Amino acid sequence: MTSGGQLRLGLNIDHVATVRNARGGTRPDPVRAALLAVEAGADGITAHLREDRRHIRDEDMRRIRATISKPLNFEMAATGQMLDIALDIAPHAVCLVPEKRAERTTEGGLDVVGGHSHLAPFVAELSRGGIRVSLFIEPDTDAIRAALSLRAPVVELHTGAWCHAIETGDLVKAEAEFERLRSAAGLAGGLGIECHAGHGLDYETARQIARLPEIVELNIGHFLVGESIFVGLAESVAAMRKAMDEGRKAMQGA
Ligand code: PXP
Repeated sequence: MTSGGQLRLGLNIDHVATVRNARGGTRPDPVRAALLAVEAGADGITAHLREDRRHIRDEDMRRIRATISKPLNFEMAATGQMLDIALDIAPHAVCLVPEKRAERTTEGGLDVVGGHSHLAPFVAELSRGGIRVSLFIEPDTDAIRAALSLRAPVVELHTGAWCHAIETGDLVKAEAEFERLRSAAGLAGGLGIECHAGHGLDYETARQIARLPEIVELNIGHFLVGESIFVGLAESVAAMRKAMDEGRKAMQGA
């Protein structure tokens, strides 16, 4: 689906739960953050229930689902336990992600080519349950074609390598990674797959990626939760919204 319209912002609240869990109590409450973010202009809330429950816990997912008025994007690994939980909670969307216990964050996209037969029943069962399935993938042609053959309606392109190249000043790599994102988004759009993006985004990278017309949603967490220490969550969400809208406008004027 090619958009060019307003780009949606999904706030990932995992790291509000990380701070809460550092003390083992109930504060800060990720559901309070979700409510505030929606009030400040977020179009949805994203949360990742990891196998080790290092941040978001089962009860957080249930409370977010019961409390917020905007769509919940439930990130999970393709395991039987997670499938049962997701079908029970019935979020608006599930984003299937690779998960390694030792990683700090989701390091890369799903192996949708090699893992095709493992992923197929998850996509089918979640879809049957009325949940929109997204696959978190590298911005690669083969991955997008595999997502199409899995009948996933949505892909989320992993922006981590691009953002890391910018952060470390490797401009040659940054340009090459941006080209990968641009052509992957173009291919997904051409094939009728809805295209999202996320990982490592900040104001500047969100402004830049907003120029790709096929991308309709960004999921952003760590940077915004960090910024909220300095300016508050409402202001960081509003500033992100503004950066995304500026990028979109620049695209439309181009
Ligand atoms: N999208 C997906 C699928 C993710 O796994 C993550 C990280 O959990 C994000 C977006 C957000 O990444 P970040 O926290 O770096 O903004």
